[in-house]
Amino acid sequence: MIAELKGVGKDYRTGDQTIVALQPTNLILNEGELLLIIGPSGSGKTTLLSLLGCVIYPSYGDLWVDGQHVNKLSEKALARLRLNTIGFVFQNFNLLAPLTAEDNVMMPLQLQGIRTAEARDRTEQALKTVGMTDRRRNLPKQLSGGSNNELPLPAPLLQNPN
Ligand SMILES: Nc1ncnc2c1ncn2[C@@H]1O[C@H](COP(=O)(O)OP(=O)(O)OP(=O)(O)O)[C@@H](O)[C@H]1O
Ligand SMILES: [Mg+2]
Repeated sequence: MIAELKGVGKDYRTGDQTIVALQPTNLILNEGELLLIIGPSGSGKTTLLSLLGCVIYPSYGDLWVDGQHVNKLSEKALARLRLNTIGFVFQNFNLLAPLTAEDNVMMPLQLQGIRTAEARDRTEQALKTVGMTDRRRNLPKQLSGGSNNELPLPAPLLQNPN
């Protein structure tokens, strides 16, 4: 089992108002599963992901991630759990602007205390896997955003509408 939520919910208090971001939720995530979280805007998808990603604590209920009872972890222990067991793929990347592609990839390995030579090897391998070796010294702003706006336009869109 990767994660379990037992009656987990999240409330936010703004002034005298309480917003229920996630109603009490029961969920079990098993290894090898692909899970889609679908729902209307404001239904609590990001809140649920933030709980599973150990970014926030539940307001109530019990949450286990990788065998650890998240409710009982200190912020430091929670950060360690994120560093060592959780990977986020953000829509807007969240790369560190002053660091090169290579240094962005290496950063979590260094935080994990992996020695520099091994971190360099693993970084090199990872960049090679995604065909980015020649871009390793580029800053994030010098990399493409991964959108397909460089693809050739279909013929009808290339024609002058007039
Ligand atoms: N930090 C916060 N402070 C106050 N209210 C919050 C906070 N985060 C989320 N909420 C509220 O909790 C509810 C759930 O928000 P959440 O972002 O989880 O929804 P969502 O399903 O991800 O929506 P969307 O599809 O628009 O991304 C919303 O009403 C939102 O306004
Ligand atoms: Mg969201």
